[in-house]
Amino acid sequence: MKILGIETSCDETSASIIEAYKDFKINILSNIVSSQIDLHKKYGGVFPELASRAHLENIIPSIKASLSKAKTNLENIDLIAATTGPGLIGSLLVGVNTAKTLAYSLDKPIIGVNHLEGHIYSAFGGEIRNSKLEINFPAIVLIVSGGHTSLILMKDYGKFEAIGQTRDDAAGEAFDKVAALLELPYPGGPAIEKEASKSKPLSSKLKIKLPRPMIDSSSFDFSFSGLKTAVLYLIKQFNGDRLKNVKRDIAHEFQQAVIDVLVDKTLKAANYYKVKTIMLSGGVSANSLLRREFERKTNFLVPPKNLCTDNAVMIAVAGYYKYSATYLKKKPNKWYNINANANEKLINW
Ligand code: KG4
Ligand code: ZN
Repeated sequence: MKILGIETSCDETSASIIEAYKDFKINILSNIVSSQIDLHKKYGGVFPELASRAHLENIIPSIKASLSKAKTNLENIDLIAATTGPGLIGSLLVGVNTAKTLAYSLDKPIIGVNHLEGHIYSAFGGEIRNSKLEINFPAIVLIVSGGHTSLILMKDYGKFEAIGQTRDDAAGEAFDKVAALLELPYPGGPAIEKEASKSKPLSSKLKIKLPRPMIDSSSFDFSFSGLKTAVLYLIKQFNGDRLKNVKRDIAHEFQQAVIDVLVDKTLKAANYYKVKTIMLSGGVSANSLLRREFERKTNFLVPPKNLCTDNAVMIAVAGYYKYSATYLKKKPNKWYNINANANEKLINW
């Protein structure tokens, strides 16, 4: 099957073509991601109205580019998969309505994909996984992105149970906000990672210590807003040139604090639920230190870095699994059954 994936839930307009086989081997034919980072940089975060306008401008060129890179055309597409939610409603509507129009005019099947299903399935599929490990259930997935920090227990394909989530800021959001406090560019994750890599904590005379929120709690929930406030108070102790000298150490300690909590909670949950597979996904899982810390402690699956942040390949892959599992038993995969929903929940297939 050739599948066209469409993702417009936040600030990336993405269109991808994958080829999916009966044994669930996935071949990526194209992955066009039109990033709006430059557009939102001066606001230090995503400006929703500007995001939807940019999606409107980018969606058709992105789809055209994805088809041409894949050396195919719309007639050869067997299934259209689009992100229906959660996300910014103005952004979601652009992708969903484009997908529905294509499905209607070409009379092709269409499937709505939850953005979190997309992140989860970015770690699935032989070709895209970059790993020799098999997926066995039960599995646990840590989704860490700008909008979400969730631990999902998967008992089977399409059987999801949220066992923990952030009570306030998402991990990626904390990276973005702390980067702004440190006057580092947006998006904050890669900027903090780069700044932190300049730190040599062992040689530093200064002891910078930040809290590891909820690390000792028996709950699998997270909380990152207190950590952000702790950084704010820390910064207030330094001014001007003195802050310049400790920026890298603060970035380093902040990154380490977030990672310590993410790794610790995931391993505790994996142990508690006796899972057979651990998976990592979402924008923050592109962080090299996070990947290294997991590597030191366990076997796990993580997508290649370019599929950690938002992309349409993950939507096409999730769409394929979902379509294969549901097309006989659910409502027909027709354009009139698909709608954007800003608050869409992850539901079982
Ligand atoms: O998955 P994603 O592209 O969008 C959402 O669904 O939210 O994640 C974007 C988030 C941003 O907050 C960004 O700062 C963070 O992922 N991020 C990182 C890294 N690369 C992106 N955080 C830490 N380290 C990174 N290398
Ligand atoms: Zn995302």
